Amino acid sequence: MEFDKIPVRRQVTHLNRRIEAIANRMVRRVDGTKGRLRLGGRAAAYDDANYEFIGGASDVLRKKHYDKSLRLLWKAEKHAPWLSFSDNSKAERELEEMALRSMTDEEKEARKRLSMPEFKELLNREYTVRQKEAIVAVLSAIGHGEAYAWLVSASLLSEVKSTGARAALTMQVMEEAKHFVVMRELLQAFDVPIPRQSAWEYLFLEWVLKSDGLEKFFGMNVAVEGIALSFFGMMSTMPGLEILRLFHLDESRHTALPSNYFKEFPMTEWQKRNPVARLRRLKVILPALALIPYLEDDLAELGIDAFEFGGSVLSKVSFLAERAGFYFPVPRSVLLPVLNGLFNGYCRVTRPEHDHQAYTDADTTRGDAERAVEKAIFFGGADAA
Ligand SMILES: [Fe+2]
Ligand SMILES: [Fe+2]
Repeated sequence: MEFDKIPVRRQVTHLNRRIEAIANRMVRRVDGTKGRLRLGGRAAAYDDANYEFIGGASDVLRKKHYDKSLRLLWKAEKHAPWLSFSDNSKAERELEEMALRSMTDEEKEARKRLSMPEFKELLNREYTVRQKEAIVAVLSAIGHGEAYAWLVSASLLSEVKSTGARAALTMQVMEEAKHFVVMRELLQAFDVPIPRQSAWEYLFLEWVLKSDGLEKFFGMNVAVEGIALSFFGMMSTMPGLEILRLFHLDESRHTALPSNYFKEFPMTEWQKRNPVARLRRLKVILPALALIPYLEDDLAELGIDAFEFGGSVLSKVSFLAERAGFYFPVPRSVLLPVLNGLFNGYCRVTRPEHDHQAYTDADTTRGDAERAVEKAIFFGGADAA
Protein backbone atom coordinates (compact mmCIF):
# COMPACT_ATOMS: atom_id res chain seq x y z
CA MET A 1 0.00 0.00 0.00
CA GLU A 2 1.36 3.42 -0.93
CA PHE A 3 1.92 5.81 1.97
CA ASP A 4 -0.81 8.28 0.92
CA LYS A 5 -3.32 5.43 0.74
CA ILE A 6 -2.72 4.35 4.37
CA PRO A 7 -5.61 5.59 6.61
CA VAL A 8 -4.80 8.89 8.32
CA ARG A 9 -4.98 7.36 11.84
CA ARG A 10 -2.25 4.85 11.03
CA GLN A 11 -0.11 7.54 9.37
CA VAL A 12 -0.35 9.68 12.52
CA THR A 13 0.47 6.67 14.73
CA HIS A 14 3.48 5.84 12.58
CA LEU A 15 4.73 9.42 12.84
CA ASN A 16 4.14 9.49 16.62
CA ARG A 17 6.10 6.26 17.04
CA ARG A 18 9.04 7.68 15.08
CA ILE A 19 9.04 10.86 17.18
CA GLU A 20 8.89 8.74 20.36
CA ALA A 21 11.79 6.55 19.21
CA ILE A 22 13.98 9.61 18.61
CA ALA A 23 12.93 11.17 21.97
CA ASN A 24 13.59 7.87 23.80
CA ARG A 25 17.10 7.58 22.34
CA MET A 26 17.86 11.21 23.26
CA VAL A 27 16.46 11.03 26.80
CA ARG A 28 18.40 7.87 27.60
CA ARG A 29 21.60 9.13 25.97
CA VAL A 30 21.45 12.42 27.92
CA ASP A 31 20.60 10.68 31.23
CA GLY A 32 23.22 7.98 30.58
CA THR A 33 25.93 10.63 30.04
CA LYS A 34 24.80 12.63 33.11
CA GLY A 35 24.89 9.40 35.13
CA ARG A 36 28.41 8.52 33.98
CA LEU A 37 29.59 12.06 34.83
CA ARG A 38 27.77 11.86 38.19
CA LEU A 39 25.67 14.90 37.31
CA GLY A 40 22.31 13.26 37.99
CA GLY A 41 20.70 11.21 35.26
CA ARG A 42 18.00 8.62 35.80
CA ALA A 43 16.72 8.67 39.38
CA ALA A 44 15.17 5.19 39.38
CA ALA A 45 17.48 2.18 39.75
CA TYR A 46 15.11 0.49 37.35
CA ASP A 47 15.88 -1.58 34.25
CA ASP A 48 12.77 -1.25 32.11
CA ALA A 49 14.33 -3.14 29.17
CA ASN A 50 14.43 -6.29 31.33
CA TYR A 51 11.35 -5.40 33.42
CA GLU A 52 13.45 -5.66 36.61
CA PHE A 53 15.07 -3.40 39.12
CA ILE A 54 18.84 -2.99 38.75
CA GLY A 55 20.38 -6.10 40.27
CA GLY A 56 18.01 -8.54 38.59
CA ALA A 57 15.14 -10.66 39.84
CA SER A 58 16.67 -12.19 43.04
CA ASP A 59 13.84 -14.69 43.20
CA VAL A 60 15.52 -16.58 46.06
CA LEU A 61 15.42 -13.46 48.23
CA ARG A 62 11.83 -12.77 47.17
CA LYS A 63 10.73 -16.29 48.13
CA LYS A 64 12.58 -16.29 51.48
CA HIS A 65 11.26 -12.93 52.59
CA TYR A 66 8.36 -11.52 50.54
CA ASP A 67 6.52 -14.83 49.95
CA LYS A 68 7.17 -16.00 53.51
CA SER A 69 5.97 -12.70 54.98
CA LEU A 70 2.71 -13.05 53.08
CA ARG A 71 2.32 -16.68 54.17
CA LEU A 72 2.81 -15.67 57.81
CA LEU A 73 0.87 -12.39 57.58
CA TRP A 74 -1.16 -11.93 60.75
CA LYS A 75 -4.07 -9.66 61.49
CA ALA A 76 -4.57 -7.69 64.71
CA GLU A 77 -8.34 -8.18 64.55
CA LYS A 78 -7.91 -11.94 64.87
CA HIS A 79 -5.09 -12.03 67.43
CA ALA A 80 -5.95 -8.98 69.56
CA PRO A 81 -9.70 -8.45 69.02
CA TRP A 82 -9.86 -6.01 71.96
CA LEU A 83 -7.91 -3.44 69.92
CA SER A 84 -9.60 -1.16 67.37
CA PHE A 85 -8.37 -2.92 64.21
CA SER A 86 -10.72 -4.34 61.58
CA ASP A 87 -8.15 -5.82 59.22
CA ASN A 88 -9.65 -9.30 58.65
CA SER A 89 -10.84 -9.97 55.10
CA LYS A 90 -14.47 -10.98 54.44
CA ALA A 91 -13.30 -14.57 53.88
CA GLU A 92 -11.38 -14.58 57.19
CA ARG A 93 -14.44 -13.28 59.06
CA GLU A 94 -16.71 -15.91 57.49
CA LEU A 95 -14.20 -18.65 58.33
CA GLU A 96 -14.09 -17.50 61.94
CA GLU A 97 -17.92 -17.49 62.17
CA MET A 98 -18.12 -20.97 60.64
CA ALA A 99 -15.55 -22.29 63.12
CA LEU A 100 -17.48 -20.75 66.03
CA ARG A 101 -20.76 -22.31 64.86
CA SER A 102 -19.27 -25.80 64.98
CA MET A 103 -17.89 -25.41 68.55
CA THR A 104 -19.34 -26.58 71.85
CA ASP A 105 -20.25 -23.91 74.43
CA GLU A 106 -17.07 -24.75 76.33
CA GLU A 107 -14.90 -24.29 73.23
CA LYS A 108 -16.73 -21.06 72.44
CA GLU A 109 -15.96 -19.73 75.93
CA ALA A 110 -12.26 -20.58 75.45
CA ARG A 111 -12.21 -18.81 72.07
CA LYS A 112 -14.21 -15.83 73.34
CA ARG A 113 -13.15 -12.58 71.75
CA LEU A 114 -12.19 -10.25 74.58
CA SER A 115 -13.50 -6.71 74.50
CA MET A 116 -11.24 -3.82 75.59
CA PRO A 117 -12.83 -3.55 79.10
CA GLU A 118 -12.37 -7.34 79.53
CA PHE A 119 -8.75 -7.10 78.40
CA LYS A 120 -8.12 -4.29 80.89
CA GLU A 121 -9.73 -6.43 83.62
CA LEU A 122 -7.37 -9.28 82.69
CA LEU A 123 -4.36 -6.94 82.99
CA ASN A 124 -5.57 -5.65 86.37
CA ARG A 125 -6.09 -9.20 87.59
CA GLU A 126 -2.66 -10.42 86.46
CA TYR A 127 -0.47 -7.42 87.29
CA THR A 128 0.03 -4.83 90.02
CA VAL A 129 0.22 -1.17 88.92
CA ARG A 130 4.01 -1.27 89.37
CA GLN A 131 4.25 -4.37 87.15
CA LYS A 132 2.09 -2.68 84.50
CA GLU A 133 4.41 0.34 84.64
CA ALA A 134 7.41 -1.95 84.27
CA ILE A 135 5.94 -3.76 81.24
CA VAL A 136 5.07 -0.46 79.60
CA ALA A 137 8.52 0.99 80.36
CA VAL A 138 10.24 -2.01 78.76
CA LEU A 139 7.91 -2.43 75.80
CA SER A 140 7.69 1.29 75.02
CA ALA A 141 11.46 1.21 74.40
CA ILE A 142 10.71 -1.37 71.71
CA GLY A 143 7.61 0.54 70.60
CA HIS A 144 9.69 3.67 69.89
CA GLY A 145 12.12 1.33 68.10
CA GLU A 146 9.26 0.17 65.86
CA ALA A 147 8.77 3.78 64.73
CA TYR A 148 12.44 3.91 63.71
CA ALA A 149 12.27 0.42 62.15
CA TRP A 150 9.46 1.74 59.94
CA LEU A 151 11.57 4.77 58.93
CA VAL A 152 14.83 2.85 58.42
CA SER A 153 13.29 0.00 56.41
CA ALA A 154 11.56 2.55 54.15
CA SER A 155 14.88 4.34 53.58
CA LEU A 156 16.66 1.02 52.89
CA LEU A 157 14.25 0.46 50.02
CA SER A 158 16.26 2.92 47.95
CA GLU A 159 19.61 1.38 49.00
CA VAL A 160 19.15 -2.27 47.98
CA LYS A 161 19.52 -3.81 44.54
CA SER A 162 17.12 -6.20 42.77
CA THR A 163 13.41 -6.82 42.56
CA GLY A 164 13.54 -9.56 45.23
CA ALA A 165 15.32 -7.40 47.82
CA ARG A 166 12.88 -4.53 47.28
CA ALA A 167 9.94 -6.91 47.64
CA ALA A 168 11.48 -8.22 50.89
CA LEU A 169 11.97 -4.71 52.28
CA THR A 170 8.51 -3.62 51.21
CA MET A 171 7.09 -6.39 53.41
CA GLN A 172 9.33 -5.24 56.25
CA VAL A 173 8.04 -1.67 55.89
CA MET A 174 4.45 -2.99 56.11
CA GLU A 175 5.24 -5.22 59.09
CA GLU A 176 6.98 -2.39 60.98
CA ALA A 177 3.96 -0.15 60.37
CA LYS A 178 1.76 -2.89 61.84
CA HIS A 179 4.14 -3.43 64.78
CA PHE A 180 4.12 0.29 65.55
CA VAL A 181 0.35 0.85 65.47
CA VAL A 182 -0.53 -2.44 67.22
CA MET A 183 2.10 -2.01 69.97
CA ARG A 184 0.89 1.57 70.52
CA GLU A 185 -2.70 0.46 71.19
CA LEU A 186 -1.56 -2.53 73.24
CA LEU A 187 0.47 -0.29 75.56
CA GLN A 188 -2.28 2.33 75.80
CA ALA A 189 -4.56 -0.44 77.17
CA PHE A 190 -2.35 -0.70 80.28
CA ASP A 191 -3.67 2.71 81.46
CA VAL A 192 -0.32 3.88 82.82
CA PRO A 193 1.78 6.74 81.39
CA ILE A 194 3.87 5.71 78.35
CA PRO A 195 7.39 7.12 78.77
CA ARG A 196 9.14 9.02 76.02
CA GLN A 197 12.46 7.70 74.72
CA SER A 198 15.28 7.62 77.25
CA ALA A 199 18.47 9.44 76.23
CA TRP A 200 20.03 6.04 75.40
CA GLU A 201 17.17 4.95 73.14
CA TYR A 202 17.15 8.38 71.48
CA LEU A 203 20.88 8.32 70.70
CA PHE A 204 20.87 4.66 69.64
CA LEU A 205 17.94 4.97 67.24
CA GLU A 206 19.00 8.34 65.82
CA TRP A 207 22.49 6.96 65.08
CA VAL A 208 20.92 3.94 63.38
CA LEU A 209 18.70 6.15 61.20
CA LYS A 210 21.69 8.36 60.33
CA SER A 211 23.93 5.40 59.35
CA ASP A 212 25.21 5.43 55.77
CA GLY A 213 23.66 3.17 53.13
CA LEU A 214 23.73 -0.53 53.89
CA GLU A 215 25.24 0.11 57.35
CA LYS A 216 21.59 0.72 58.26
CA PHE A 217 21.20 -3.06 57.95
CA PHE A 218 23.67 -3.37 60.85
CA GLY A 219 22.01 -0.76 63.06
CA MET A 220 18.44 -1.87 62.40
CA ASN A 221 18.18 -5.51 61.26
CA VAL A 222 21.07 -6.72 63.37
CA ALA A 223 21.25 -4.50 66.48
CA VAL A 224 17.76 -3.04 67.04
CA GLU A 225 15.89 -6.10 65.80
CA GLY A 226 18.22 -8.49 67.63
CA ILE A 227 17.28 -6.64 70.83
CA ALA A 228 13.56 -6.59 69.92
CA LEU A 229 13.66 -10.33 69.12
CA SER A 230 15.09 -11.00 72.59
CA PHE A 231 12.45 -8.85 74.35
CA PHE A 232 9.60 -10.52 72.47
CA GLY A 233 11.01 -14.02 73.07
CA MET A 234 11.24 -13.22 76.79
CA MET A 235 7.84 -11.57 77.29
CA SER A 236 5.49 -13.44 74.93
CA THR A 237 4.61 -16.01 77.63
CA MET A 238 3.27 -13.31 79.98
CA PRO A 239 -0.54 -13.05 80.33
CA GLY A 240 -2.06 -10.61 77.83
CA LEU A 241 1.17 -10.37 75.83
CA GLU A 242 0.75 -13.51 73.70
CA ILE A 243 0.56 -11.39 70.53
CA LEU A 244 4.31 -10.70 70.97
CA ARG A 245 4.87 -14.24 69.56
CA LEU A 246 3.81 -12.90 66.19
CA PHE A 247 6.12 -9.89 66.51
CA HIS A 248 8.91 -12.35 67.39
CA LEU A 249 8.33 -14.37 64.21
CA ASP A 250 8.42 -11.21 62.05
CA GLU A 251 11.58 -9.91 63.73
CA SER A 252 13.33 -13.25 63.26
CA ARG A 253 12.75 -12.91 59.51
CA HIS A 254 14.00 -9.32 59.57
CA THR A 255 17.21 -10.26 61.41
CA ALA A 256 17.98 -12.83 58.68
CA LEU A 257 17.58 -10.32 55.82
CA PRO A 258 21.13 -8.83 55.83
CA SER A 259 22.82 -12.26 55.59
CA ASN A 260 20.49 -13.38 52.84
CA TYR A 261 20.98 -10.11 50.95
CA PHE A 262 24.78 -10.20 51.21
CA LYS A 263 24.80 -13.76 49.83
CA GLU A 264 23.59 -12.28 46.55
CA PHE A 265 25.21 -8.85 46.75
CA PRO A 266 28.28 -9.27 48.96
CA MET A 267 29.92 -6.37 50.75
CA THR A 268 33.54 -5.75 49.80
CA GLU A 269 36.22 -6.78 52.33
CA TRP A 270 36.85 -3.03 52.85
CA GLN A 271 33.17 -2.39 53.67
CA LYS A 272 33.23 -5.26 56.16
CA ARG A 273 36.55 -4.63 57.83
CA ASN A 274 37.69 -1.01 57.51
CA PRO A 275 38.58 0.44 60.93
CA VAL A 276 36.24 3.45 60.65
CA ALA A 277 33.21 1.23 59.94
CA ARG A 278 34.16 -1.13 62.80
CA LEU A 279 34.44 1.76 65.27
CA ARG A 280 31.16 3.29 64.04
CA ARG A 281 29.37 -0.04 64.67
CA LEU A 282 30.68 -0.07 68.22
CA LYS A 283 29.61 3.57 68.67
CA VAL A 284 26.09 2.77 67.43
CA ILE A 285 25.56 0.02 70.02
CA LEU A 286 27.14 1.83 73.00
CA PRO A 287 23.92 3.64 74.01
CA ALA A 288 22.13 0.27 73.87
CA LEU A 289 24.58 -1.00 76.50
CA ALA A 290 23.58 1.89 78.76
CA LEU A 291 19.96 0.71 78.46
CA ILE A 292 20.78 -2.42 80.48
CA PRO A 293 21.34 -0.69 83.87
CA TYR A 294 18.68 1.91 82.93
CA LEU A 295 16.00 -0.82 82.68
CA GLU A 296 17.37 -2.92 85.59
CA ASP A 297 14.66 -1.96 88.08
CA ASP A 298 11.76 -2.45 85.62
CA LEU A 299 13.09 -5.82 84.46
CA ALA A 300 13.60 -6.94 88.07
CA GLU A 301 9.93 -6.13 88.71
CA LEU A 302 9.12 -8.74 86.04
CA GLY A 303 11.51 -11.30 87.51
CA ILE A 304 14.20 -10.72 84.89
CA ASP A 305 17.88 -10.08 85.62
CA ALA A 306 18.84 -7.13 83.36
CA PHE A 307 22.41 -8.35 82.98
CA GLU A 308 21.39 -11.90 82.07
CA PHE A 309 19.06 -10.37 79.51
CA GLY A 310 21.77 -7.97 78.28
CA GLY A 311 24.32 -10.81 78.02
CA SER A 312 21.85 -12.94 76.09
CA VAL A 313 21.10 -10.04 73.69
CA LEU A 314 24.75 -9.19 73.09
CA SER A 315 25.56 -12.79 72.35
CA LYS A 316 22.77 -12.89 69.71
CA VAL A 317 23.52 -9.47 68.20
CA SER A 318 27.27 -10.13 67.90
CA PHE A 319 26.52 -13.49 66.25
CA LEU A 320 24.17 -11.90 63.70
CA ALA A 321 26.68 -9.08 63.06
CA GLU A 322 29.62 -11.39 62.34
CA ARG A 323 27.49 -13.71 60.21
CA ALA A 324 26.46 -10.78 58.00
CA GLY A 325 30.06 -9.45 57.79
CA PHE A 326 29.58 -6.42 60.08
CA TYR A 327 32.78 -6.74 62.11
CA PHE A 328 33.54 -4.90 65.35
CA PRO A 329 37.03 -3.60 66.30
CA VAL A 330 37.60 -6.96 68.04
CA PRO A 331 36.08 -10.37 67.23
CA ARG A 332 33.06 -11.70 69.11
CA SER A 333 35.24 -14.22 70.94
CA VAL A 334 37.11 -11.29 72.56
CA LEU A 335 34.21 -8.84 72.81
CA LEU A 336 31.87 -11.10 74.82
CA PRO A 337 34.34 -11.89 77.65
CA VAL A 338 35.19 -8.16 77.90
CA LEU A 339 31.49 -7.26 78.19
CA ASN A 340 30.94 -10.07 80.67
CA GLY A 341 33.79 -8.67 82.79
CA LEU A 342 32.22 -5.18 82.64
CA PHE A 343 28.81 -6.50 83.69
CA ASN A 344 30.33 -8.42 86.59
CA GLY A 345 32.36 -5.36 87.64
CA TYR A 346 29.19 -3.22 87.68
CA CYS A 347 27.24 -5.86 89.62
CA ARG A 348 30.03 -6.29 92.18
CA VAL A 349 29.65 -2.59 93.02
CA THR A 350 25.85 -2.40 92.92
CA ARG A 351 24.86 -5.84 94.28
CA PRO A 352 26.45 -6.69 97.65
CA GLU A 353 25.74 -10.41 97.35
CA HIS A 354 27.06 -10.70 93.78
CA ASP A 355 28.88 -13.84 92.57
CA HIS A 356 30.69 -13.89 89.22
CA GLN A 357 28.30 -15.00 86.45
CA ALA A 358 28.61 -15.92 82.78
CA TYR A 359 26.03 -13.38 81.63
CA THR A 360 26.87 -13.68 77.94
CA ASP A 361 26.12 -17.44 78.07
CA ALA A 362 22.59 -16.79 79.35
CA ASP A 363 19.49 -17.31 77.24
CA THR A 364 16.48 -15.39 78.51
CA THR A 365 14.05 -16.47 75.78
CA ARG A 366 11.19 -18.23 77.59
CA GLY A 367 8.60 -19.49 75.09
CA ASP A 368 9.19 -22.98 73.61
CA ALA A 369 8.08 -21.82 70.14
CA GLU A 370 10.34 -18.76 70.39
CA ARG A 371 13.30 -20.91 71.48
CA ALA A 372 12.72 -23.12 68.43
CA VAL A 373 12.58 -20.09 66.11
CA GLU A 374 15.81 -18.69 67.58
CA LYS A 375 17.52 -22.09 67.41
CA ALA A 376 16.69 -22.12 63.70
CA ILE A 377 18.21 -18.64 63.24
CA PHE A 378 21.32 -19.20 65.33
CA PHE A 379 22.08 -22.81 64.47
CA GLY A 380 20.19 -23.33 61.21
CA GLY A 381 21.48 -20.22 59.41
CA ALA A 382 19.60 -17.26 57.91
CA ASP A 383 17.70 -19.53 55.49
CA ALA A 384 15.79 -21.08 58.35
CA ALA A 385 14.35 -17.82 59.70
FE1 LIG B 1 9.25 -4.57 64.24
FE1 LIG C 1 11.50 -5.67 62.34
